[in-house]
Amino acid sequence: MESLKIHDKKFSESIHSKKIQGTVGKIAAQLNHDLKDKEVVFIGVLNGAFMFASDLMKQIQLNCRISFIKVSSYAGISSTGSVINLIGLNEVIKGKTVVIIEDIIDSGKTLNFILSALKEHEPTEIKIVTLLFKPAAFKFNYKPDYVGYRIPNQFVVGYGLDYAGFGRNLTSIYTLVNE
Ligand code: IMP
Ligand code: MG
Repeated sequence: MESLKIHDKKFSESIHSKKIQGTVGKIAAQLNHDLKDKEVVFIGVLNGAFMFASDLMKQIQLNCRISFIKVSSYAGISSTGSVINLIGLNEVIKGKTVVIIEDIIDSGKTLNFILSALKEHEPTEIKIVTLLFKPAAFKFNYKPDYVGYRIPNQFVVGYGLDYAGFGRNLTSIYTLVNE
C-alpha cells in the first residue's frame, strides 16, 4: 500500500485510481439510465469536485448542461462549520432536474446550504451525487442519491480533495495516518 507525505502529514492509499474509475463508470451508467429524457443541469461544487465531475461527465450521454459553483467553508483537517457564500450559479435551473456533484459529504453543512440556495431557483428536482460519504459525521436528514463510497470518519485527500491546498492532483485517494 503506497504511503506518502503531503505538507506535514503522512497518508496511505485507501482507494486506488483504477477502482475509482470503475465506480465513476457505474455512477455514470445509473445517471444515464435514471435521468434519460429529462432536462438536466449538472452543478459541480468547486474546488474539490473538479476531478470527479470531469471524469463523470466524460461518461454522461445525456443532453445536458454543466456548470460549477463555489462555497467557502473548510480549512485544514477539521470543518470550520461556517458555510459562507455561494458563487457562480449562472445557469437557469427553474423547471430543470439539477444534479449536484460533490467530492465528499462530511457533516453535510455545505450541501445543506447549497440545497437551500438552489431550491430558491425552483428546479423541478435536485439529485445529489457524491464520490465519498462519511455517514458517521453526517448531521442532516436529506440523503445523497448516488454515493461512490461510504467511508469512516477519517480525513482523506486526493482525487480533487486537499489537505491545506495540497494533494488535489493525486489520482488515488489517501487516508490520514494517525501517528
Ligand atoms: P461538510 O460541510 O462538513 O459536509 O464538508 C464538506 C466539504 O469539506 C467538502 O466538500 C470538502 O471540500 C471538505 N471535506 C470534508 N471532509 C474532508 C476530507 O476528509 N478531506 C478533505 N476535504 C474534506
Ligand atoms: Mg467540496
